[in-house]
Amino acid sequence: MPKLYGEITGWGAYVPPRIVTNHELEATLDTTSEWIVQRTGIHQRHIADASETTSTMAVKASWSALAQANLPSTALDLILIATSSPDYFTPPVSSMVQAALNAHNTPAMTIVTGCTGFVYALVTAHQFIETGAYRNILVVGVELLSRFVDWEDRSTSVLFGDAGGAVVMQATEKPCGLQGYALGSDGNGFQHIIMPSGGSARPFGADVLHEGSHHLQMNGREVFKFATRIFGPASDQALKMAGKTIADVDWIIPHQANLRIIQAAARDMEIPLDRFIVNIDRYANTSAASIPLALAENLDCGRIKPTDTLLLVSFGAGMTWSAAVVQMQPGK
Ligand code: UT7
Repeated sequence: MPKLYGEITGWGAYVPPRIVTNHELEATLDTTSEWIVQRTGIHQRHIADASETTSTMAVKASWSALAQANLPSTALDLILIATSSPDYFTPPVSSMVQAALNAHNTPAMTIVTGCTGFVYALVTAHQFIETGAYRNILVVGVELLSRFVDWEDRSTSVLFGDAGGAVVMQATEKPCGLQGYALGSDGNGFQHIIMPSGGSARPFGADVLHEGSHHLQMNGREVFKFATRIFGPASDQALKMAGKTIADVDWIIPHQANLRIIQAAARDMEIPLDRFIVNIDRYANTSAASIPLALAENLDCGRIKPTDTLLLVSFGAGMTWSAAVVQMQPGK
């Protein structure tokens, strides 16, 4: 069998139309736009309205990616959805997306690794392509975290936004696609980003509702330290596997959690900040959606070319990390 590569032939993103600015949050929270901008780089976020769910956002991003790839949904061999904010705990949101896309009986699975989910899913898709098992795979990162944060908790609610991003990966014999990756997890830090109640450890009940412990909680300082510690080593490991150095990379697309984390990574890796894609100012932290959203947005405006060498780096709940070196399409 000839060697197979996963070409990324389509991409798409969806953000809900409603924008909530920092100034609007000042009206209901003990916060200031100045604090949010200085500490995070966030100016605004998009928030889904009551008619949207995680699956509806995923489906919108998916249709765009499929249209661009010129691939009917019925030709999909596998659907991977990365999210930590599904419509339901059960059934898996991936099956709901599969049904909505009319992708009859296509295997579908949800990958729940927090903000790192999209890159985990991309790496998973690549394995199925490389082995020859599947030819056409949809990979989605989507989050509707505005339904899971406590809107009275200023330490989390100002940070997150809703969005979805999708790519289509298709088998080709021309060298391209995922060239190297690094995945990791240190579950000893599991409590740093957590929804403490509503799962088997602490089932939902009146006491949970009273405490509000079903909401997302984050130990921001610890996560910040973890993110800045892991960024460089994860990137180096992925580059080494790809047989490349950072000088070969055209664009770094980091998870958009905090502008200061991105600035610290640029400093540590001695790379100018203008080689990092940054859109946290407009979308805030969209968790598993942040990398595919940034990717789609910058491909659409022509800033990133499909033949560019990209370094994707993410970190988040778990604690998990993921990095990938990708050239979406074969060079000329
Ligand atoms: O996507 C998953 C991965 N997530 C991340 O990577 C997030 C990583 N962490 C961070 O981005 C930052 O830690 C935060 C943005 C979450 C927080 O920034 P920080 O500079 O680490 O602030 P802090 O948590 O150390 O809090 C500093 C102060 C505290 O007040 P005291 O205790 O110093 O009096 C907070 O209560 O800022 C206060 N504070 C706020 N003040 C105004 C926290 N949130 C707010 C707020 N407005 N929204």
